[in-house]
Amino acid sequence: MAHYEKPDYWSLKARKEGYPARSVYKLKEMDERFGLFKPISGTRAACTKVLDLGAAPGSWSLYTLRRTGGFLVAADLAPLSRQYDQGLFGGPNVSFIQGDITSEETKAAILSQGPFTLVFSDAAPATTGNSSVDTLRSFALAEAALEYAEAALVPGGNFVVKVFQGGDTAGLLKRIREGFKTGKSFKPTACRSESFETYYLGLGYGTGSAG
Ligand SMILES: C[S@@+](CC[C@H](N)C(=O)[O-])C[C@H]1O[C@@H](n2cnc3c(N)ncnc32)[C@H](O)[C@@H]1O
Repeated sequence: MAHYEKPDYWSLKARKEGYPARSVYKLKEMDERFGLFKPISGTRAACTKVLDLGAAPGSWSLYTLRRTGGFLVAADLAPLSRQYDQGLFGGPNVSFIQGDITSEETKAAILSQGPFTLVFSDAAPATTGNSSVDTLRSFALAEAALEYAEAALVPGGNFVVKVFQGGDTAGLLKRIREGFKTGKSFKPTACRSESFETYYLGLGYGTGSAG
């Protein structure tokens, strides 16, 4: 029998507010708390260019477009859902790349559209049930996301990445702290309490302890 999960508070709220996934409230909370989309001094607000890695079904992308009106590059193995987008994903300021963000081909396609003022990744592998395989895969996605940020963020730009317990997460946070003015770990309220996920943030690229 198919497993049916009853929609929770956040999923119902997302549907009502026109987002395909509850994850939008994680980004919203981090934005309200850390000012992720704040214009970077020395650049114009109109220059906002966001890279959304692991973007499908598209809540973080929709939030970005509604919030900034800037340019968005989104990438995922799966297509974005058009159920709530009101035509936004077909607009001239959106570029969607369907592919594996760890592949060289996708990397080249994404980086050719940089630089970015904000890079975030909510990418998560399909779970296999084998926790060491799942941990390795999710850590590889988080590392890949940091490599995009290091390759394509403008000075002062921000970075957010989903991480799961396991892998060298301490090493990842250390690298973020070296590259950004501030590096921190944050678990949004909308994360399921039983979930091992958390988010690492890098704020102010190029002004960290190594910069
Ligand atoms: C939790 S969902 C992202 C939800 C999204 N932030 C939203 O708000 O709608 C994780 C996504 O990561 C994507 N993903 C996993 N591995 C990937 C890979 N190697 N390359 C690209 N996308 C990947 C999955 O296809 C899935 O759509």
